[in-house]
Amino acid sequence: MRIAYGLALGQGRVTLEALEGLRERLLEAQQWLEEEGARGEVGFMDLPLQDPSPVLQVAREVRNLYDHFVLIGIGGSSLGAQTLFDALRGPSYNRHSHPTFHILDNVDPVKVEKTMSEVKIEATCFCVVSKSGSTAESMANFLVALGLLQRAVGREEARKRIVFITDPHRGTLRELAREEGYRSLDIPSNVGGRFSVLSPVGLFPAAVLGIDVKRLLEGASRALEACKRQDSVTHNPAWLIAGLHYLYQTLEHRGISVMMAYHERLSTFVDWYRQLWAESLGKDGKGQTPVKAIGAVDQHSQIQLYNEGPRDKVITFLQVENFALDHEIPHLYPHKPALAYLGRHRLGELLKRELIGTASALAKRGVPSITITLPKIDEACMGALFMVYEMATALSGYLYGINPFDQPGVEEGKQLTYGLMGREGYQDKGYEAQKIWEKSIKASLIV
Ligand code: PA5
Repeated sequence: MRIAYGLALGQGRVTLEALEGLRERLLEAQQWLEEEGARGEVGFMDLPLQDPSPVLQVAREVRNLYDHFVLIGIGGSSLGAQTLFDALRGPSYNRHSHPTFHILDNVDPVKVEKTMSEVKIEATCFCVVSKSGSTAESMANFLVALGLLQRAVGREEARKRIVFITDPHRGTLRELAREEGYRSLDIPSNVGGRFSVLSPVGLFPAAVLGIDVKRLLEGASRALEACKRQDSVTHNPAWLIAGLHYLYQTLEHRGISVMMAYHERLSTFVDWYRQLWAESLGKDGKGQTPVKAIGAVDQHSQIQLYNEGPRDKVITFLQVENFALDHEIPHLYPHKPALAYLGRHRLGELLKRELIGTASALAKRGVPSITITLPKIDEACMGALFMVYEMATALSGYLYGINPFDQPGVEEGKQLTYGLMGREGYQDKGYEAQKIWEKSIKASLIV
């Protein structure tokens, strides 16, 4: 992985000196993180060295026994698997491979019905992922799946077609696994949802899809080593990403972090990043709003704003050196200037040059950007990318003086929903939400 940061420096208050000036704070942040790890409070940095055998064994059985695999989970419990699927398998996978792969994150009834109608229920393994074992969307989708399974194959057989991935000690899924013998894999207690892609949360679905999880972990392990370098801020990828974003926000009030991927297979990685950055750092009135963009498509939608709108953005471009497939553009109209120049170039080359053109145009107007280049999209590179961003996010939490590992703002919404749906013990939350909601209704429009 290569990170180019030249276009982010020198035009405003964020200079190379300012970046290196942050070294002591980053060192402190690193020490804090390592201490939290040593105390067993933070576990994501241990994941690259885990033994994936239990995951691989269950995944082998699922691959042998089932035609379809449906992952039920939301947020950190689904985005990692979705990212791996989209990056390493892609949209045509389900047409020629088995088991076919589906994710039920939302409780959008049309999506759920459609997914259930696409799979043969009796030949489906449902994997329910929830660290807390209580998230309303995931529990509702679990119950829907279990109901359909019980109708199709009976109680006993239904239970065999379900795998839980949850906290090793706490929560309703863990209780059910103990009481009724559902098969289960553990999410280490000290690994939170959005930092869990390299735990069974991401590894199990990946292994079911035939993704080489050992190479994923090797890539993460190598990246973790790079993230421990202390000689210079610019030699440590996590320090560089955390340091630049922090300086741009605090010195130049750039409160928006755009990530623009110039490869559609990385589109879901941007969603994963968006969740990680937003949920980890958006608290105590602090944080940076992550925004998703896709190159070259969003050059024709967003770039006008990035170039000439409010000067509140720092851009990260993601690109890939080698495309798995490419196509030469035919040289068919040598006498038509608008077409001739494209002839005999490859589409991948055009896409890469679009990035250079866009980044340079932004730089001319003083909009800072960094460019992350992956040699290609494979397991090792994805593992590295995940680890670098998890480290950068955790360190950013220290720089901002907030806890990057909690999410009180998410919990509040979850509890109000429990109350509104009549969950025992949450009635007051339900009344509270109802009162707030009703106060907001000021006009009814009849159309
Ligand atoms: O990162 C997080 O903690 C959240 O996004 C959770 O992953 C999400 O809310 C789902 O929670 P759970 O895994 O407990 O069902």
